[in-house]
Amino acid sequence: MWTAAVVTVSDRSYAGLREDEAGPRVAELLAASGFEVTRRALVPDERELIEQELRQLADAYDVALIVTTGGTGFSPRDVTPEATAAVCERLASGIPEAMRAASLAITPRAMLSRAAAGIRGRSLIVNLPGSPKAAAENLAAVVGTLAHGLQMLRGGPADCANEP
Ligand code: MTE
Repeated sequence: MWTAAVVTVSDRSYAGLREDEAGPRVAELLAASGFEVTRRALVPDERELIEQELRQLADAYDVALIVTTGGTGFSPRDVTPEATAAVCERLASGIPEAMRAASLAITPRAMLSRAAAGIRGRSLIVNLPGSPKAAAENLAAVVGTLAHGLQMLRGGPADCANEP
């Protein structure tokens, strides 16, 4: 069972003006998919604070999968993908590509998500949109495949030939 962390990125939730619904929803879905959610965090849409949180979860807590929700749109303060790219050594662009491909079948607005994914050390970081519905739909599109990526990243050689 891989460890996971959920980071909610939201000015309004951080200020106590809106309840964080997406974070608990994402944590629930990860747990239902076999991940052990060991950490939860809530940060405002501040690039430096997002980067700090991601670095800590990867470097100090060694969390296998770090999932963010929020800050992937076009609002001036949406900077989660930039913070993610800044802390990752390698990008994993296929993950947001798959999320957007699946989401476009649900809404054309899926193209407005700038979500990124990448690898920092032994951790995989995946961005999700901020609304609970969008976060759940995007996660559902990729969650079944993430364990195979983590197996390659952390568990040594993974047998790609026998995977579905
Ligand atoms: N993807 C799915 N599956 N369902 C949605 O409702 N909403 C979109 C998009 N992706 C959506 C979605 C919208 S409206 C936006 S603006 C972007 O995600 C970014 O969302 P964020 O700014 O909350 O991160």
